[in-house]
Amino acid sequence: GPTRFYDFKVQTKRVTKLCSSKDIVTINGMFPGPVIYAQEDDRIVVKVTNQTPFNVTIHWHGVRQRLSCWYDGPSYITQCPIQAGQAFTYNFTVVKQKGTFFWHAHVSWLRGTVYGAMIVYPKAGLSYPFKIPYQEQIIILGEYWLKDLVQIEQTTLASGGPPPRPDAYTINGHPGPNYNCSTNDVYKIDVITGRTYLLRIIHAGLNTENFFAIANHKLTIVEADAEYTKPFTTDIVMVGPGQTMAALVTADQPVGKYSITVAPYKSGRIVNYQNISAIAYFHYIGAAPGSLYLPAKLPKLNDSLVVKTFMDGLRSLNPVNVFKEIDENVFITIGLNVQMCHSKTPKQSCQAINNGVMAASMNNISFIQPKLSILEAYYRKINGSYTEDFPDAPSKLYDFVYGAPNNIPYDTQSLNGTRIKVLGYGSKVQLILQDTGTVNTENHPMHLHGHSFYVIGYGTGNYNPKTAQFNLVDPPYLSTVGVPVGGWAAIWFIADNPGVWYMHCHIEIHQSWGLGMVFIVKNGKGEQESLPQPPTDMPQC
Ligand code: C2O
Repeated sequence: GPTRFYDFKVQTKRVTKLCSSKDIVTINGMFPGPVIYAQEDDRIVVKVTNQTPFNVTIHWHGVRQRLSCWYDGPSYITQCPIQAGQAFTYNFTVVKQKGTFFWHAHVSWLRGTVYGAMIVYPKAGLSYPFKIPYQEQIIILGEYWLKDLVQIEQTTLASGGPPPRPDAYTINGHPGPNYNCSTNDVYKIDVITGRTYLLRIIHAGLNTENFFAIANHKLTIVEADAEYTKPFTTDIVMVGPGQTMAALVTADQPVGKYSITVAPYKSGRIVNYQNISAIAYFHYIGAAPGSLYLPAKLPKLNDSLVVKTFMDGLRSLNPVNVFKEIDENVFITIGLNVQMCHSKTPKQSCQAINNGVMAASMNNISFIQPKLSILEAYYRKINGSYTEDFPDAPSKLYDFVYGAPNNIPYDTQSLNGTRIKVLGYGSKVQLILQDTGTVNTENHPMHLHGHSFYVIGYGTGNYNPKTAQFNLVDPPYLSTVGVPVGGWAAIWFIADNPGVWYMHCHIEIHQSWGLGMVFIVKNGKGEQESLPQPPTDMPQC
């Protein structure tokens, strides 16, 4: 396909919201940032010039980066950050992919304001496998804080405790009328009676899973994580950080104004939760001012049944050819815990709650970013930035008991480290992700870079191979899976993209606490199975 060029200037910009002004980091002064449009198999070239004092990288979320690992974006995983005054040009092809994507900063908590949609249409002459919408609408969900996010990050991580709740949820950058001085800061979609619209819903928020609904209107999900799904109709969508969905909605109600509502979903323990919501308007053209207005009805804050029904509804459009043989059977525990002070804990972080700090780990390793990009260290065979000894799961799993006090399982002993799991080229991987966290605050939307995977099963409690039910017929093909709080998810993927790939919880604070790990996928034979050379303008650490 053709090449699409974009120029991204990373700039700070003064914004006023909720009667308060602050500087935020943006792309080209826009919030949300510019939309990237392309067609399947197009090349996308984005020159990113950093005009801020902060380190920056951009990740193209959901793009599998076939043979282009160098442009994936996660800081210290595939690249050193673009420093103040520097530039880096991302250059990749959206190989055999189309749908709803987004891009976001992938360093510190910058993605709180540095994000935008990326829409990839089918190839010229091809269409959608569903009713052609009259119009498409991007709906990008975010979170907003009155305070400076860089400062919030610093104080939160220094405290060893959880981050403050956002002051507002946003839809396309707008909080809607429910907040201080926000009556006019509302996103509005104008619709025509009888027409059908495709909503491209993107969750770019940092830390909260959300319910999404439009008053009195049904939504038909046709795509999740930029892969078609069997159309299924629902009143409520559940979408977590890092997930995208496309939904059809028909303006089939009496002329009026209907609320598009985004509210938090809280899967685990509820601590100090403020149930605030973002609102946009689904506005019928011709509705007189002051005419019918209907708010959306959303489930209870912690309605996990609604969520299960929704997740069960996500199926691949076509029957899939899930492989039956498995080369790598991997079991990884994930979770949050209070990491007690021990020899491997950095000293300064051992003064927080109960002589411990909030930590998160995978197989008890709390991921630490190295000083050099792992991809570069791997490619140039530089020692010292990581080791290839990601451990197996602990042999004894304790049984999760919701809310049980004083559970002191093994995972309070998590160790900090940068330990990697190596996969042979083309290996067929079954990966069970098991939440064993003792601080069970929420689901973990686990995101894998460089690959999509079939979600063949999930459930509550501990995974039991004897009773687990797998869907090998039409499992959804995703790049982010919500691992239920205290439960498990089973995914299958083929490690056929050579390079260094991050897997992490897309809840930002969990990632900061160490809920991540890295796979190295080895080269196969020949150029089509090998990591290419690095670009010459690769940023230096
Ligand atoms: Cu959207 Cu590694 O992230």
